[in-house]
Amino acid sequence: MGYRIVVVGATGNVGREMLNILAERQFPVDEIVALASRKSMGSEVSFGDKTLKTKDLDTFDFTGWDMALFAVGSDATKIYAPKAAAAGCVVIDNSSLYRYDPDVPLIVPEVNADAIMGYSKKNIIANPNCSTAQMVVALKPLHDRARIKRVVVSTYQSVSGAGKEGIDELWDQTKSIYNPVDDKPARKFTKQIAFNVIPHIDVFMEDGSTKEEWKMVAETKKIVDPSIKVTATCVRVPVFVGHSEAVNIEFEDHLDEDEAREILREAPGIMVIDKREDGGYVSPVECVGDYATFISRIRQDSTIDNGLNLWCVSDNLRKGAALNAVQIAETLGTRALKKG
Ligand SMILES: NC(=O)c1ccc[n+]([C@@H]2O[C@H](COP(=O)([O-])OP(=O)(O)OC[C@H]3O[C@@H](n4cnc5c(N)ncnc54)[C@H](OP(=O)(O)O)[C@@H]3O)[C@@H](O)[C@H]2O)c1
Repeated sequence: MGYRIVVVGATGNVGREMLNILAERQFPVDEIVALASRKSMGSEVSFGDKTLKTKDLDTFDFTGWDMALFAVGSDATKIYAPKAAAAGCVVIDNSSLYRYDPDVPLIVPEVNADAIMGYSKKNIIANPNCSTAQMVVALKPLHDRARIKRVVVSTYQSVSGAGKEGIDELWDQTKSIYNPVDDKPARKFTKQIAFNVIPHIDVFMEDGSTKEEWKMVAETKKIVDPSIKVTATCVRVPVFVGHSEAVNIEFEDHLDEDEAREILREAPGIMVIDKREDGGYVSPVECVGDYATFISRIRQDSTIDNGLNLWCVSDNLRKGAALNAVQIAETLGTRALKKG
């Protein structure tokens, strides 16, 4: 016997990837339904070699369904996730709405799978921000060996992190630069994104940081260790899929770069590609469609006692969202719901 699964936001970037990954990993599905807004009712999405017709989230009854993988924004999540949870359907949510709720576990299975049993308090499990997910997969095994004190991270985040509208804006604006009569001013992003970079993701906070930067700080503490200090600069770049991060890590204990490379090679979810030659590192276009978080450019930081630098790249729609959500569903199934 398998699971009855609901995919909420199935016409979006993350929702479509969730359907792909559930099929790729042969998740034990007895029945699956794809939901989106009323305007998408009847539109078709792929699930393996099947086609599903999208239904309306607003009129859907979650009673009798085992898990709902949510990939709609926080506003819709606020309305529909509590309804699903109250109907006994466990919500695995990709929005930021529940991530900081002490009664909702925030899970990256390679890092803190044991915390998943806290799901029963609200019947909700949160999926972290895409930038946090890939970074903590790399930080955890290094922290276990040498205790991380502080992380300084700069991100290079693709436009797909801003949903379908983000992808469309980069595509249309890039074309319009070669054909100026068809001007495409910035709408989704705050400045031109084609051939540019924008040091601003999500809203500004009182201290001058952005909410995206704050999320990396708060989520790393909740998932890995509250004692780790993080400072982040989050930047949108004209890449369609794949987030990159330059990460500087200060440890309590000494950690040699060769040992760090070996630890990361053995770590779950990580692929080390680190040759000190032209092209001996991973760039975002190469990570698209992959499950791994790729680590390159591992090197000592000689300006502090116990420091390392590394380059971290992953498919933000996969490890940053859909894959992590499906891994949570797998973990929940194995540890708690026990079907399939
Ligand atoms: N993209 C990433 O890298 C990433 C990473 C981590 C987390 N997330 C989070 O995942 C969520 C989805 O992101 P996305 O990139 O997939 O966005 P997206 O491509 O813009 O897709 C949004 C999806 O939500 C549906 N939706 C929106 N409002 C709705 C409503 N009121 N009722 C029913 N359906 C509604 C849309 O349906 P229609 O097509 O019918 O409008 C669509 O299926 C967001 O919370 C986002 O913050 C994204």
